Amino acid sequence: MALDGSIQATRVRAYFSKIASRYDLVNHLLSAGFDVLWRLRAADVVKAWKPKSILDLATGSGDLACALKRACPDAFLVGADFCEPMLRVARRKQLPRLVVADALQLPFAKDSFEVVTVAFGLRNMASWTEALAEMRRVLTPDGHLLILDFGLPKPPLLSPYRFYLHHLLPGLAAALTGQRSAYDYLADSIESFPNGAAMCERLEANGYKEAHYQPLLGGIAALYIARRG
Ligand SMILES: C[S@@+](CC[C@H](N)C(=O)[O-])C[C@H]1O[C@@H](n2cnc3c(N)ncnc32)[C@H](O)[C@@H]1O
Repeated sequence: MALDGSIQATRVRAYFSKIASRYDLVNHLLSAGFDVLWRLRAADVVKAWKPKSILDLATGSGDLACALKRACPDAFLVGADFCEPMLRVARRKQLPRLVVADALQLPFAKDSFEVVTVAFGLRNMASWTEALAEMRRVLTPDGHLLILDFGLPKPPLLSPYRFYLHHLLPGLAAALTGQRSAYDYLADSIESFPNGAAMCERLEANGYKEAHYQPLLGGIAALYIARRG
């Protein structure tokens, strides 16, 4: 990872360390509960693949891992994140295997998992290309990748949503967490993250196949699905 990347990783870890104890509450309030539905939808998609093993990367406070555990009770499920305070929240949710690990340098052998999931995590990683390569390395041949992340809706929703994202959300989140900078960062990271077809192209350029996506709530979030090429 380049120096810029290591500065970004340190900054991201610091943001999530500061907001860890209030992360779940703020998520549910600021998304009006839609984040719960989106993770359930993601878990339903994974369930249809009947995987024996799942790696939930950037598992954070573990909410997607919990939904996956319920949807796929027989799968060998591992949650990994590089922010110990976020994992501390996840540990209270009786998740079986939680590992402190950097998604850019995973402590797993190649071909280890039939499914890799990452919810609201890839966007925060210092190098999307390195992260996608590392996820590909630990996926079994033909294994599935599922990404859930924020995007930008199309007009006419785009302008009001941008107003919410850049002006209302950071203020509300600051009131709830005392941490405004983490939520200014959220808005900027959503603006620069590839959206819709652009993300699918990026996945295919990085060794994945059959990339497609499902917009959620008019494109405010999306599920990206692909297989290891
Ligand atoms: C917005 S939270 C998402 C948590 C959870 N997946 C969810 O659905 O709520 C982003 C998480 O990504 C983690 N993260 C960011 N970069 C990472 C990296 N390079 N390796 C591991 N975890 C990372 C952060 O520590 C944080 O817990």
